Amino acid sequence: VKKGIFCLCMTVLILGGCTLGGVSLKGKEKLAEPDFVLTYAENQAEDYPTTQGAYKFAELVKERTGGKVEILVNAGGMLGDERSVIEQIQFGGIDFARMSISTLADIVPSLYILEMPYLYRDSGHMWKVLDGEIGKQLMETMDNTDIVPLSWYDAGARSFYFRERSVETLEDLTGKKIRVPESALLIDLMRALGAVPVPLAFDKVYSALETGQIDGAENNWPSYDSMRHNEVAPYFVVDEHMRIPELQMMSRSTWDILPEEYQKVIVECARLSANYERSVWKERVDISRKRVIEEGCQEFLISDEEKQKFLAAVAPVYEKYCGDQMDLLQKIRNVQ
Ligand code: GCU
Repeated sequence: VKKGIFCLCMTVLILGGCTLGGVSLKGKEKLAEPDFVLTYAENQAEDYPTTQGAYKFAELVKERTGGKVEILVNAGGMLGDERSVIEQIQFGGIDFARMSISTLADIVPSLYILEMPYLYRDSGHMWKVLDGEIGKQLMETMDNTDIVPLSWYDAGARSFYFRERSVETLEDLTGKKIRVPESALLIDLMRALGAVPVPLAFDKVYSALETGQIDGAENNWPSYDSMRHNEVAPYFVVDEHMRIPELQMMSRSTWDILPEEYQKVIVECARLSANYERSVWKERVDISRKRVIEEGCQEFLISDEEKQKFLAAVAPVYEKYCGDQMDLLQKIRNVQ
């Protein structure tokens, strides 16, 4: 953090012309002098909803601490892929991040239950779970970890997409090489569906599709659009097999050095930024879907009958990841 403060001061001096006692010589406005300059890792592009949420968060925190806490958002995976960002959050090399819980759950297994395939009836169901007692309790399971959970962000529903028009039924998935995030659960899920999982970091997917290293991948509409995967895998099969929430989080070592008043501001701004991200998300799903379809993406729907087959096939994954949490699973299903 200290090093960060030094860097920021240097940046202010260089970019702001010259400053004296916090007053810019170029203009009349007072430059805030932050006590804490903190980093935020985000692997999505600048205009992506989660990144918009990150900027909103940084802006609110700055405003509400009178400029004393400055958060520098690094979008586009600048600080590394999700695996390495988790490690850096754990030892305090990065202060904040927004992360898909698919990768995080391997480190915090209590989170697996929130990303089980076909778990939620719809988006509203998922939000009732996350915003309610269960979401709170699952955050509390992280109390003894190096990570402080802040808020849940939306990542919609994930579906499959392919280089070739080859998959319309469950049987068609057999033997297909499908990229998955670096996540034990997703690897097992693909195996249960008969496919061959290929775990890869998010930024490697485009070229793997382009070169044919994989036959397909799976993600939500905005990621598919934002990463331009439609250019190399134009067949999108809307099966919505998973809703994987995103977690906005913080390094505990950073949390511990912050005064309590700033901790409170951070918690509140994280909540507000999450509300903001959710509203941006809703709009972006339609925009992305329309854009890729205009560009030639073909969308295929899956019949309810076929969906039942998918559901039956994933039973072993439930057994392995939630076998001892059937009560909680039932509670999640019962949320109305
Ligand atoms: C989503 C999520 C990313 C994640 C990606 C993935 O798009 O927002 O953070 O990296 O899924 O499939 O790896």
